[in-house]
Amino acid sequence: MTLNVNSPHARDIRGYLHPYTNAALHEEIGPHIITRGEGIYVYDIAGKRYIEGLAGLWCAALGFSEKRLVEAATRQLNTLPFYHGFAHKAVEPAIELADYLVSRAPVPMSKVFFANSGSEANDTQVKLVWYYNNVLGRPQKKKIIARKGAYHGITVASGSLTGLAYAQQAFDLPIANILHTDCPHHYHFAAPGESEEQFSARLAANLEALIAQEGPDTVAAFIAEPFLGAGGVVPPPKGYFEAIQPILQKHDILFIVDEVISGFYRTGHMFASEIYGLKPDLITLAKALSSAYQPIAAVMMTEKIYQAVVEGSRRFGMFGTGFTYSGHPVPAAVALEAQRIYDERDIGSHVRELIPRFRRRLAQIGERLLVGEVRCAGLIGGIELVADKAAKKNFETQRKVGGWTMNRALEHGLIVRALVNDTIALCPPLIITERELDDMFDRLEKTLDDAAAEFGRT
Ligand SMILES: Cc1ncc(COP(=O)(O)O)c(C=O)c1O
Repeated sequence: MTLNVNSPHARDIRGYLHPYTNAALHEEIGPHIITRGEGIYVYDIAGKRYIEGLAGLWCAALGFSEKRLVEAATRQLNTLPFYHGFAHKAVEPAIELADYLVSRAPVPMSKVFFANSGSEANDTQVKLVWYYNNVLGRPQKKKIIARKGAYHGITVASGSLTGLAYAQQAFDLPIANILHTDCPHHYHFAAPGESEEQFSARLAANLEALIAQEGPDTVAAFIAEPFLGAGGVVPPPKGYFEAIQPILQKHDILFIVDEVISGFYRTGHMFASEIYGLKPDLITLAKALSSAYQPIAAVMMTEKIYQAVVEGSRRFGMFGTGFTYSGHPVPAAVALEAQRIYDERDIGSHVRELIPRFRRRLAQIGERLLVGEVRCAGLIGGIELVADKAAKKNFETQRKVGGWTMNRALEHGLIVRALVNDTIALCPPLIITERELDDMFDRLEKTLDDAAAEFGRT
């Protein structure tokens, strides 16, 4: 085969270093180029159509052809394509979006700070927590506890909060003052015979022991996703947050809830904090905030955190953090339009209606020999493929069973994502219909038939 040196494929290999991609392998196989989208589908450069079973990267909640979002962006580009929020300047879409988010927050929130990505927003959370304690005259209270298996992003600080080896190894992460406590995954980490409640109580006791060992006056915050996303789609075990939250309160430790995947109706509720009874001091938002049509993320903070910012400004001068594009008018306008669409179409009810079907189809998949556990938190699911179901034993990593399955799904016209422990993740656009949902599962089942033929006899 002769390769055209000027094809997009060849030029990609020549010039583009891809995020989260094996660079050595990429030199051999090159890119899979996606050229357009329509509803829950995307098309590649060869014209093949796929169900986007992960809504891109857990984000395109309204699918890939929502004209109202395009029009909102165009309107704003024609009016004011850029202006910033530094030194008291403001643009109307950012004002309106902040106001809307405060009005809909799962617990009383005071202010919104905008960033461009979930990573930047979590980076800002770290800075806010440190700033807050400096203003309060507690310079020792700086450590932040995250969890093994968590995903909070990739900047130096947010990548340190992430509890997955691939985001840290060879990057010299985590940085100082970031600690990791237990991964709340009952299937893998429960002791024999331990119930979910007992497991949660043990993890809470371990957290308290860690706080005691470090010194409560040195621990500033605890960060958690309501359910682990990239760490395998793991809902909290029963009683988990009920056991964790009082410990945080007892030791005056701020609770940062990372709703980057779970926010905006993924669970059928606007925020997953509502269903798990979470009482955050700080919330991180991104992804479906704008249905991913424009990059935008947000940090929400309670009045007590905001008051520290006011006091800090009196003491140190201006609050010295902000991105050029914090509250950029185009993403803010698109995010506002996405929120209007969620409200007008009552997307929460639509998701709640789909969840029983989603659960049922997942549960059927759970019967398969190769499937160790299926997990679900609203319209997001994880299917963990194992070598030995009875022993809950994963395949050897080098067999790349998850990666193989993810690639095989492409042949059946389905895009999914392989996570840690050969877990196949599903997180379709929220606009998916019942018929499309069944089609997605049918394609996945064909893929799993193929995987069983390939890996069934180990
Ligand atoms: C829970 C969570 N937090 C933060 C991030 C980082 O967001 P971004 O990729 O926009 O930096 C992600 C990304 O997947 C995420 O899932």
